[in-house]
Amino acid sequence: MERLQKYMAQCGVGSRRKCEEYIEAGSVKVNGEVVRELGTKIDPETDIVEYQGRVIKQEENKVYILLNKPPKYITTVQDEMDRPKVMDLLTDVQERVFPVGRLDWGTEGLLLLTNDGELAHILTHPSFKVEKEYHALVPGKVDDHQLEQLRTGIMLDDGITHPAKVKRLKTEGKKTWLAISIHEGRNRQVRRMCAAIGHPVIQLKRVRLGGLTGDKLKVGEYKFLTEEEINLLLGKGGYKKEK
Ligand code: URA
Repeated sequence: MERLQKYMAQCGVGSRRKCEEYIEAGSVKVNGEVVRELGTKIDPETDIVEYQGRVIKQEENKVYILLNKPPKYITTVQDEMDRPKVMDLLTDVQERVFPVGRLDWGTEGLLLLTNDGELAHILTHPSFKVEKEYHALVPGKVDDHQLEQLRTGIMLDDGITHPAKVKRLKTEGKKTWLAISIHEGRNRQVRRMCAAIGHPVIQLKRVRLGGLTGDKLKVGEYKFLTEEEINLLLGKGGYKKEK
């Protein structure tokens, strides 16, 4: 027997946390009945699970795609404003993949797409402490006290941020590039942190996910990750890819 949200994640519907939201929203049926209980267990051999009216099954082939997202693309799978989506950039992917976490419309850089909900859970849950590094261009000069504020924690409207690694990279005229590494993934977190110290972000790029950088990927390009690269992504603990 398997927990419903875990089974859904294994089927590539989304991360475990996202699947919990789908269950609570009433979008999931087990053997024809809507189920909203998060504790529900199912037998993958005999129970029929539907998400949004479609029967879901475990994908045989797990894929992991690293995309260098251009700005002005949205990460969500659907958009009521009909803006360009990151999915439109994946031209030779047969599997149904979903983005792990989110980059804002205006943010560029590394984005993982997969049909492995368990890996998505590990990457997005702060307890696993997978670090994400951003380069942020901000106006003006950022002084040492402001850097220290970013490092120790900034009070945002959804609570104080966890300690971050922060350094000045270079100045560009009257602007400064900062490198900021965090393992949380709150909505617009880096933009809100920088705004809180009086330096609203002009440009934002994600340059590292765990131990993985996408140095050779041009903006808009993507590649399929090897098992070795997936382990790099997850850091020292590594990750046992599901067969
Ligand atoms: N933080 C942000 O503010 N935006 C992103 O896209 C990612 C992290």
